[in-house]
Amino acid sequence: MIDLSVDLGFMRLNNPVIAASGTFGYGLDFVPFINLDDIGGFVIKGLYAQPRPGNSPPRLAETSSGLINAIGLPGIGMKKFAEEILPQLKKYNAALFVNVCGENPEEYITVVDYLNGFDEIAAYELNISCPNVEKGGSCPALFPEDTFSIVKQVKEASLRPVITKLSPNVTNIVEIALAAQEAGSDAISLVNTFLAMAIDTKTRKPKIANIMGGLSGPAIKPIALRMVYQVAQNVTIPVLGMGGIMSGLDAVEFLLAGATAVEVGTANFVDPEVTICMIKEMEQYCRIHGVEKLEDLVGAIDVSI
Ligand SMILES: Cc1cc2nc3c(=O)[nH]c(=O)nc-3n(C[C@H](O)[C@H](O)[C@H](O)COP(=O)(O)O)c2cc1C
Repeated sequence: MIDLSVDLGFMRLNNPVIAASGTFGYGLDFVPFINLDDIGGFVIKGLYAQPRPGNSPPRLAETSSGLINAIGLPGIGMKKFAEEILPQLKKYNAALFVNVCGENPEEYITVVDYLNGFDEIAAYELNISCPNVEKGGSCPALFPEDTFSIVKQVKEASLRPVITKLSPNVTNIVEIALAAQEAGSDAISLVNTFLAMAIDTKTRKPKIANIMGGLSGPAIKPIALRMVYQVAQNVTIPVLGMGGIMSGLDAVEFLLAGATAVEVGTANFVDPEVTICMIKEMEQYCRIHGVEKLEDLVGAIDVSI
């Protein structure tokens, strides 16, 4: 029997596969397809204090090997989530992570403060990295000082572990990760989407109304993997890796690069059962390669020539 569990420091997951924010709704949409208890966990869509409509359509554009989105964080707001969705999620054992958003530090703190009063949440994932919120957008993850400041404030308000989600749209990802760690973050997740655009050559218009959006999917995997490797080499807290993971072997690559767990985003749109297939494929990889504990793969990249 292969041990698929991994240790995030503040909790153990049954396996390292977590569905990523914005691609898994509030979890319930996937109940017809998978048993939520079979995945390591899931992150709900970014949550602000108040309900929000998001950006105007068109908000999605497919590219040759990735998806550009400028959804702009629509959502039901913290109260409706806590009152209507959370009770329905109670019966599942998969770790529930709430992706927390804010237009300013006060809003992040309001959301965390309010959700502290509810039991079912495993940790907060701090979204300080959305590339496509048009106005009043908050992207502290672009600067180490801003990252430090927001993480520190949220940590002080939070009664739960905090995972800080980083943006890949920076020159030096390591200095941002170190700022989050220094501010007390319990883990780092990366990457959010890459700022990108696509143009319709017939109309000469941008393919999405926001002009620019965030690129996700297979196109970003090698860059995301490089960033996860760099961060994992330099921080002491656990890293949750993501970006273009489409298969169990992709996930294994992220573990080898140093991620303790992986998040799976765009792949959920291709196949809503993909997370389950990935877990099976990782287990099969372990069997073939004589790995008894999946966790032994974390950071096990061999860089010798
Ligand atoms: C349609 C869409 C919506 C997203 N919404 C959020 C969000 O609300 N909060 C967040 O932190 N990341 C959000 N993301 C980013 C993903 O969680 C993930 O970081 C990114 O897509 C890279 O992973 P992937 O290539 O596996 O999709 C969204 C991505 C997509 C495609």
